[in-house]
Amino acid sequence: MALLEISEVSKQYTRGGRAFNAVNHASLSVEGGDFISVIGRSGSGKSTLLNMCAGLLEPSGGAVLFEGKDIYDLKDKEVSFFRNAKIGYVPQGMSLLSNFTVLENVCIPWFLFKREGDVEGRAFILLEKVGISRLAASYPKELSGGEMRRAAIARSLVNNPRLLIADEPTGDLDAETTAEIMTLLSRIAGEGTAVLIVTHELDTLSYGNKTYVMDAGNLAPHAA
Ligand SMILES: Nc1ncnc2c1ncn2[C@@H]1O[C@H](COP(=O)(O)OP(=O)(O)O)[C@@H](O)[C@H]1O
Ligand SMILES: [Mg+2]
Repeated sequence: MALLEISEVSKQYTRGGRAFNAVNHASLSVEGGDFISVIGRSGSGKSTLLNMCAGLLEPSGGAVLFEGKDIYDLKDKEVSFFRNAKIGYVPQGMSLLSNFTVLENVCIPWFLFKREGDVEGRAFILLEKVGISRLAASYPKELSGGEMRRAAIARSLVNNPRLLIADEPTGDLDAETTAEIMTLLSRIAGEGTAVLIVTHELDTLSYGNKTYVMDAGNLAPHAA
């Protein structure tokens, strides 16, 4: 059974009185350990697709199965818990809370549902893993773009998810930092957490084991 399986998923929006499919019958499956990239230009439907995969946006048609269960059949509260426990999410752009330290930011998903255990110890280990444990007590405004992205990746891993979903994790980063973040994500995939990212950058193509292209809502495997 695939970890994540989306079949014939569509999302219809209406703008200026006209309906259109931002995502049009997209199918994709993710297995444990996969590192999948979806590339495509701005406005092609990448974020819409990811948000449907993450349980954040209900499709207008098709099914999103996670470990064989249709996540949109769950009740609101179940879907929130499920997402918090199973899916790490790195949103597009800057997403850290500015009044909390880096370490506290990493801990937040842990506290969204009642959990016990040494979360700070775990958060610190994750910061070591992403290479910024020296910044644990710093605030987001003291970090570079790449460091913020590393912190958001550490945060997405705090509940030990089965799948990490990231929306343009290298957006606004220089080529060298992009390569470092992509290497980090492939290491995470190698350790067993499946990784699904979208990006508009072609220089990420050499990473990962599968690439798809999104074009005006239509998803297709990338021709090598
Ligand atoms: N809530 C919405 N209502 C109407 N149109 C939307 C909405 N969200 C996104 N869109 C449109 O859907 C298309 C796909 O958007 P998006 O998934 O954000 O693309 P990408 O992430 O590839 O840049 C765009 O044309 C965008 O303007
Ligand atoms: Mg987007």
